[in-house]
Amino acid sequence: MSDIGLVTDAAVLCHNGKTVAAGKQRDVLRHDLYRANRKKVKVLDCSGRTVIPGFVDSHTHPAFIHPRLKDFELRTAGATYAEIAKSGGGIHSSVEAVRMASQSQLTRHVLSAFERMQVHGTTTVEAKSGYGLTLKDELKSLRAIRSAAKAWPGAVRTTLLGAHVVPREFTKNRSAYIPLVVEKMIPAAKKLKLADFVDVFCEEGAFSLEETLKIFDAAKKNGLKTRAHVGQFTACPLERLLDSGVSSLDHLDHVQKKDVAQIADSDSVATLLPGAVYFLGGKRYPDARALIRAGAALALATDFNPGTSPTPSMSFILSLACTQMKMTPAEAINAATVNGAHALGLSMSKGRIAETFDADFAIFKTKDYREICYWFGENLCERTVTGGVVTGN
Ligand code: NIG
Ligand code: FE
Repeated sequence: MSDIGLVTDAAVLCHNGKTVAAGKQRDVLRHDLYRANRKKVKVLDCSGRTVIPGFVDSHTHPAFIHPRLKDFELRTAGATYAEIAKSGGGIHSSVEAVRMASQSQLTRHVLSAFERMQVHGTTTVEAKSGYGLTLKDELKSLRAIRSAAKAWPGAVRTTLLGAHVVPREFTKNRSAYIPLVVEKMIPAAKKLKLADFVDVFCEEGAFSLEETLKIFDAAKKNGLKTRAHVGQFTACPLERLLDSGVSSLDHLDHVQKKDVAQIADSDSVATLLPGAVYFLGGKRYPDARALIRAGAALALATDFNPGTSPTPSMSFILSLACTQMKMTPAEAINAATVNGAHALGLSMSKGRIAETFDADFAIFKTKDYREICYWFGENLCERTVTGGVVTGN
C-alpha cells in the first residue's frame, strides 16, 4: 500500500477508452501507435500537474432527496446518531421523501451526486439503494441509479440495501421484514439485473449478525455478491461474515483484535469511512494502522449520504485518513483507487494507470501527489478523464 508507483516526466497514451502505454514520456512517445498516428493524437498537456487514477468511491448512498438538517441541528445540541434514530429521525426520515418521489426525480438527485463526485476526481462509484424499504421503492431507487449511471460518463456498480433499517410499518412485526428482503427484493433485483451487490447494515438497532447471514445466503443463492456495514457503533464478531465470502466490510470503527488478523487472512477488503466519524463528531476513527500492519487490503470511500457523511469529496476523505488515521498520502491514494476497485470486483479494469486498464484519470492542480491529501476545504481537481473522454471542471 505504500508504493504509489510515482513516475515523473510521464505520459499516458490512450486508445478506445483504454490505456495503451503509461510511463516516462520519452518511452511512451516511442510507442508504435503514437508514431503511426502522431498528427491525429489529441494531446492534453498536464505539465506541472499530478495525474492519478480516477478515484473509485466504493461506498455511497446517493438515492435520497433531502439533506437531514433537523438531525444535523439536533446533533449540534448534543444528541447522538442513535438517539436521533430512536426518536424518529435518522434513516427513517429520508424514507418518506424517496417513497413520494418519482423515479425521474430520484434519478436527477442521483445524477447530481455523481456529477459532484466527478468534479472532485471520482470516476467510478458504488451506489446503494436503502431509503425506499418497500419492494417497489427499492427497485425504483436501483432503477434511478441505473438511469443516472447511463447519463454519466463514469462507471457505476449498484447495491441493494433493502436491509438498511426495518421500516416503521414493520416495527411491531420485524421478523416479517427479513422474508420481504430475502424472498422478494433480492430475487427481483437479480431478475431485473438491477444490482451487483447486496448490503446489510449489521448493527444494534438495524440488523443482527444472524439476520445479516440469512440475507447474505439469499444473495449468494441469487448469484449476487455481498458487502456489509459493520462495526460502525459497536463491535461484532466478523468471522462468519468473512467465512461467507463477503467482498467488503465497511466502517470498522469498532473491531476486536482477532478480527483484524482474520480480515488480513481473507480476500475481503476493509473499507474505511472516516467522513462518517467526522460528521457525527466522533472521536474514534478506524484503526487503519493496525489493519495495514496485519496486511489487510484497505479501501477508503466517502459514504456519501444525508445522515452521516454528506460529502462527495474523496480528497477530503484522504485528508481525514492522513490527519486522523495516520495513513501516509501514498497509502491513502492507493486505498482510494486500486483498493476501491478491488472492493468492487473491478481490479482488472479500474484504479490504476496501466496498460489495458480503462483510461480513467483525475488531474490535479498540484506539483506533488501529497498535496492532494494536504490541502483541505479546497478542490484542486482540474479535470477528469473517463474512458478517454475529458471533462473539465
Ligand atoms: O453508512 N450506517 C448506515 N448507513 C449510513 C447512514 C445512513 C443514514 O444515516 O442515512 C452510513 O453511515
Ligand atoms: Fe454507508
